Amino acid sequence: MSAEGKGAELFNANCALCHGRKGDLGMNGAKDLGLSSLTRVEMIAMVTNGKGAMMPYKNVLTPKQIEAVVDHVRTLRKAG
Ligand code: HEC
Repeated sequence: MSAEGKGAELFNANCALCHGRKGDLGMNGAKDLGLSSLTRVEMIAMVTNGKGAMMPYKNVLTPKQIEAVVDHVRTLRKAG
């Protein structure tokens, strides 16, 4: 499977413990990803370099995997 096709799998493995599978769990002060107003580019930078209680993923995931996981995050956005 291509890295691009693995966004949901990567999210559930690396991100769901704080953010939850739907992005709204909010553990450890994590924000509700469904309400995030960050752009795709800002999210990629945030996941790559980390912020506050969220660790950087640049040594954990490849740039392509980070893009795939961010594209999955963007599907969790709530309408409106
Ligand atoms: C240890 C818990 C934890 C894990 C694991 C985690 N996050 Fe976070 N995440 C946070 C916290 C806490 C914040 C808020 C950081 C801040 O603004 O200070 C955050 C913020 C974010 C934001 C920015 C939301 C916004 O609008 O400001 C994105 C996007 C995000 N996380 C995506 C991810 C992705 C994708 C992964 C997996 C690769 C991940 N997170 C893993 C805790 C976590």
